[in-house]
Amino acid sequence: MFADEIRNRYLKFFESKGHTIIPSASLVPENDPTTLFTSSGMQPLVSYFLGEKHPKGLRLVNSQKSFRTEDIEEVGDNRHTTFFEMLGNWSLGDYFKDEQIPWFFEFLTKDLGLPADKLYVTVFSGDEKLNLPKDKTSAEIWKNLFRENDMEAKEVVLETEARGGERGMQEGRIFYYRDKNWWSRSGSPEQMPAGEPGGPDSEVFYDFGTPHDKAFGKYCHPNCNCGRFVELGNSVFMEYKKTTAGFEKLPKRNVDFGGGLERIAAAANNNPDIFMVDILRPLIDALGKSANSGYAESDEGKRKNLRVAADHIRAGVFLISDGVLPGNKERGYILRRLIRRAIFKLNRLGVKDGSWINPAVKAVASSYQSFYPEIESGQKETIGIILAEFNKFQQTIESGMKMFKKIAAEARRVVSGTQAFGLLSTYGFPLELTAELAAEKNLKVDDAGFKKEFEKHQTSSRTGSAQKFKGGLADSSKETLRLHTVHHLLLRALQEVLGKSVKQRGSNITAERLRLDFSYHSKMMPAEIKKVESMVNEKIKESLPVVKTIMPKSEALKLGAESEFGQTYPDHVSVYSIGPKEATPDNPRYKETFSMEFCGGPHVKNTSELKGVFKVLKEEAVSAGVRRIKAALL
Ligand code: ALA
Repeated sequence: MFADEIRNRYLKFFESKGHTIIPSASLVPENDPTTLFTSSGMQPLVSYFLGEKHPKGLRLVNSQKSFRTEDIEEVGDNRHTTFFEMLGNWSLGDYFKDEQIPWFFEFLTKDLGLPADKLYVTVFSGDEKLNLPKDKTSAEIWKNLFRENDMEAKEVVLETEARGGERGMQEGRIFYYRDKNWWSRSGSPEQMPAGEPGGPDSEVFYDFGTPHDKAFGKYCHPNCNCGRFVELGNSVFMEYKKTTAGFEKLPKRNVDFGGGLERIAAAANNNPDIFMVDILRPLIDALGKSANSGYAESDEGKRKNLRVAADHIRAGVFLISDGVLPGNKERGYILRRLIRRAIFKLNRLGVKDGSWINPAVKAVASSYQSFYPEIESGQKETIGIILAEFNKFQQTIESGMKMFKKIAAEARRVVSGTQAFGLLSTYGFPLELTAELAAEKNLKVDDAGFKKEFEKHQTSSRTGSAQKFKGGLADSSKETLRLHTVHHLLLRALQEVLGKSVKQRGSNITAERLRLDFSYHSKMMPAEIKKVESMVNEKIKESLPVVKTIMPKSEALKLGAESEFGQTYPDHVSVYSIGPKEATPDNPRYKETFSMEFCGGPHVKNTSELKGVFKVLKEEAVSAGVRRIKAALL
């Protein structure tokens, strides 16, 4: 059965039960600063659970794009993903358990034809101290539904996963757990902050019948993580609000249901590998082809790499389509980590160039053509963004790997925080990537040491940016280094195009973009901006050397080196010149340089290292006679 078909059937099913279909919200939450990503269908609806009126009525249904970073470590097996589609239906103070549970059961067994005897369910075991009752009502509803299918459903109380592992199935069909059957955005009853809505829930599991893996406990049970049971959906009976004193009932009882589309599709096909579902398979196949390593023929290690790459690329494509760009902060950093980890996994499968990007993005676009057409219409841009990130990371992977090998060979049991941070700042290796490599060598990474190093670096970058370029950059990642050199090219190009009166008035560089303030009387014409862009790009192509020379200040001034307005300099200064090809510190043919500035560095050694295309992102006024350009290497 195709995922498209399941999604459509689900939406139609609940439409027939009086629900209005609402569109998927963006993965980037609107007006919600508490969270980086939309991670469930209810998230954009929270205010309606708390009592606000929804314009589309009391019964809603949709398929919501969702992204969860907490699952990132688990990606690689046959059922965990960071991005997934959550099928959701909601009752905003309307129907409750008596309707929700039978409807979902009907959808699974009648519409999708899943055999009832492969389904196992869980309900809330209650908490006397918190005055939260055991959910006997839901258990009773389930009992009747199974009875209608000629099954006697036995109830088993497990409370915790640990007890499940000790006691096992005990021929049960309906299982009581505590924390596993309570849902709120922040987790268990104890973890909820005051004001947060939540409630007991009832989950449905599909039994794939795979053998139990004792690594997860002596016996198997529905919430065991060995892979035999996979959760298909969760009906949350959202009727409580946390208060400072405990829990109180919300003005109305709500239902918040969420089910994983890919998992339901896997169950409908009775194949526990969700990467074989038709919306993921084309991507797996495209990557397998690029890696010369077909999924079916690959061993488990290779398959794992393909699955991680596929998950991360699909998530990346959806995030980019919702406006996220790779960067060093927040969402941008998560996206960067996803893309880099995918590149890294493919690299390990022998994929060294970026030729996989085009077919991979196209595979995602074609899988989602009918439901998310924006993926296809934006695919060219998406490919460009992933390719740019690939180019940035690819050139440091090999040297980073060499460095890691050296570190690992010398390490006793631990990769130090300084070493892990060095791998990040010099080679762009995100921490979890280093941790993964370390684990393969039975080494640990000193996380706390890394954090300390990271914070130290942030403090020094604040000081650094306050000092501008007197003695260093805000941070010294390869990206900032590149943009610093581009900054010099840009200033010079502006002088060529707009005249020598252009002087630097301020600057700021991050890993993503540079900002240059300069003196000029009017708004730049589009043609002037184009000219500046092509001049900078030409200099990048010319592979000009970037040379540092220490010389007396008077000589630097005589040579016409650019100095910063209002800045006082010592007697001996450091000067950076760009071009011509022959320039060396011994024989600096300064008259032929393209750019020459008083500057402490650091810079790249040659403009050929400035991979990418220079682009002006914005040109605007700062104050009378001062303009500001924001630009980047794309
Ligand atoms: N909001 C519930 C969940 O994410 C349905 O599981």
